[in-house]
Amino acid sequence: MKKVIAIGGSNSKKSINKTLATYAANQLKDSEIMVVDLNDFDLPIYGIDLENEKGIPEEAIRLDNLIDAADGLVISLAEHNGSYSVAFKNAFDWLSRINQKVWKNKPMLLMATSPGGRGGATVLQTAKTSFPHLGGNIVADFSMPSFHNNFSEGKIVNEEINTDLTEKIHLLQEAM
Ligand SMILES: Cc1cc2nc3c(=O)[nH]c(=O)nc-3n(C[C@H](O)[C@H](O)[C@H](O)COP(=O)(O)O)c2cc1C
Repeated sequence: MKKVIAIGGSNSKKSINKTLATYAANQLKDSEIMVVDLNDFDLPIYGIDLENEKGIPEEAIRLDNLIDAADGLVISLAEHNGSYSVAFKNAFDWLSRINQKVWKNKPMLLMATSPGGRGGATVLQTAKTSFPHLGGNIVADFSMPSFHNNFSEGKIVNEEINTDLTEKIHLLQEAM
């Protein structure tokens, strides 16, 4: 069994990105999926002074260990004002202080979705540019626009989009 972590890049309890990441990860064969909810990691706002005073929080180390133990990563990023959500960026910043290779070269399916027509394309592009410098091994990326039109009752209802995602999931499967 492969170990796969699905991360929604948001602290919304009803995160559509967590939903999409979980949906995609669950399509992987012979894989044990662990869904990471950022709400379960109680992290203070990153600051160099806090780090110097108190060191790296245990919760950041716990998240780092989960990534370390994974064979593959499925990440779907929420877009807030064209960028990462604060919750995601904060966790990301803490992780980068443990190990600059945050994503540890684990094969990654990188996604974004939003209720709007651009599907988080801006944050996805940012991450595609940045993650490779931080140990990101992005084997496929995928943006799903208009989440609420295209995802219903636990699945993607737009056939073309689903076929596209299925191909991307295969790429991750082959890379793990
Ligand atoms: C502060 C804030 C800024 C947002 N900015 C964007 C944006 O730049 N682009 C976009 O597509 N959606 C934006 N949205 C809408 C989010 O895409 C939407 O809230 C989505 O549900 C976030 O994903 P999540 O459910 O996984 O948290 C914004 C939402 C908030 C609360």
